[in-house]
Amino acid sequence: MKEIIEKIKQLKEEKKAVILAHCYQNAEIDEVADYVGDSLYLSQMAAKTDAEIILFAGVYFMAQTAKILCPDKKVLLPRLESGCLMADMINLKQLREFKSKNPNIPVVCYINSTAEVKSECDICCTSSNALKIVESLKAPKVLFLPDTYLGKWVESKLNNVEVITYPGFCPTHLRIRPEDILEARKKYPNAKVLAHPECHQSVTSLADYVGSTTGIMKFAAEHDDKQFIIATEKGVVDRLKRDYPDKEFILIKDNIICQNMKWHTLTDVLHALQNEEHEISVDKDIREKALKCIDRMLEVSK
Ligand code: 13P
Ligand code: SF4
Repeated sequence: MKEIIEKIKQLKEEKKAVILAHCYQNAEIDEVADYVGDSLYLSQMAAKTDAEIILFAGVYFMAQTAKILCPDKKVLLPRLESGCLMADMINLKQLREFKSKNPNIPVVCYINSTAEVKSECDICCTSSNALKIVESLKAPKVLFLPDTYLGKWVESKLNNVEVITYPGFCPTHLRIRPEDILEARKKYPNAKVLAHPECHQSVTSLADYVGSTTGIMKFAAEHDDKQFIIATEKGVVDRLKRDYPDKEFILIKDNIICQNMKWHTLTDVLHALQNEEHEISVDKDIREKALKCIDRMLEVSK
């Protein structure tokens, strides 16, 4: 493993490459990553890097977003199989139907969506800025897609905004049930429960803190509590255990794993850099429209 890490580091330098890794990745990827974080942070890093190659250890829509933000750079995704099941729940035809049933309402799309879908939405958001983005529209009603649970969570936090949601969801986060939280609380009565807003509202309503993957990691780092029950993907728990060995982190359930995020290994990262594959491309017209949607979000979340 040491040898692979050294080779990757050498190639990064030779090829002026930067590695962005989502917090759900296999933790070994952090050994070579320049930036590790949530979707918003990684988009911001992609937008400002002066590297020539961006290797994205994440899911397809994340690499696609980096390509939209940096059309002149080579964006690589080590394993093409790494799609996001939620992002694939809405296509352009379904988006158009959703909009035509609810005309003249601003459309917010979660970053977990395809470039085509983003190209016909007004503004993008991530789990860490969804509240701010919806508020910034100052509209009495908004359409929100594809994640119905993130949309409903936003609605529950804001007064006077009706959030009309598309029925998409994350299969990984929906495996977490309210009974799991109640059982964990019984077993660890002093622990704080930290949940991702992609969870069902019956779960988020039981949490002490709801936030993005980076938000959850920050909360655990900054609070004096010693025990945390984590209601999101296992990668977050792996990193927390590694970074804060004096605290205890309990994954809410064993099977909270996004298989698609776990495709990339260090060997795949090495091959991707050696062969400069798999290169992500986005149609020019789609890219220009999708960029407006993403740029508007980055402007609001500065
Ligand atoms: P974050 O932006 O919180 O990292 O979430 C991305 C994601 O896909 C969670 O399932
Ligand atoms: Fe998509 Fe869910 Fe995996 Fe996140 S955890 S990348 S929303 S399938």
